[in-house]
Amino acid sequence: MKIFLDTANIKSIKFYNDLGLIDGVTTNPTLLSKEDGNPHDIMKTISSIVKGDISLEVINTTYSEMVKEGHKLRNYGDNIVVKCPMTADGLMACKTLSNDKIPVNITLVFSPNQAILAAKCGAKYVSPFIGRLDDIGNDGMNIIAEIKQIFQNYDYDTQILVASVRHPMHVIDAAKIGADAVTMPPSILEKMLNHNLTLAGLDRFLSDWKQIK
Ligand code: G3P
Repeated sequence: MKIFLDTANIKSIKFYNDLGLIDGVTTNPTLLSKEDGNPHDIMKTISSIVKGDISLEVINTTYSEMVKEGHKLRNYGDNIVVKCPMTADGLMACKTLSNDKIPVNITLVFSPNQAILAAKCGAKYVSPFIGRLDDIGNDGMNIIAEIKQIFQNYDYDTQILVASVRHPMHVIDAAKIGADAVTMPPSILEKMLNHNLTLAGLDRFLSDWKQIK
């Protein structure tokens, strides 16, 4: 399962990239708005740090503007994946960009039906937002299982990128289902990494070692 970092924070991206723990990065306008500095400079910097797929989102909403913007974003590097919204225009842009050999991540997906359409339009990734479904009383993870089954039935190449991840259990459940990728904020990756029993166990080993005469 690929692990993507869902952030535009350069410090976190550098940290986890240096650790070799991330396969790429996903950003969106909200995440960019949380950081100081020009968003284009930030996107450029991310592209200079990370070798794996980096999803950068378009901010236009019409087909032709999204295609134009997608080509511009792709200039940041060969690993740029253009994120388009799950709209009719977004799907059209997905088809055109994919035909132009520019990979697309269809974002803001909330149902298996939307995922089918994204796959049919050649999306490299489809991003179901599971946390936001949980927020409104649905079972977000359920659609991951449904999409997985549908994509397997038809051998779709589109990868399931689980997004809007809110806690480490989301990661475990997504992995159990066999999702291709999970994108998570740095805080969740930190929780995956650390465990109090690991730290306590290490302390104990080191202090016991010192007792040896
Ligand atoms: O990957 C999408 C993500 O950034 C949205 O997360 O927590 O705002 O629903 P959230």
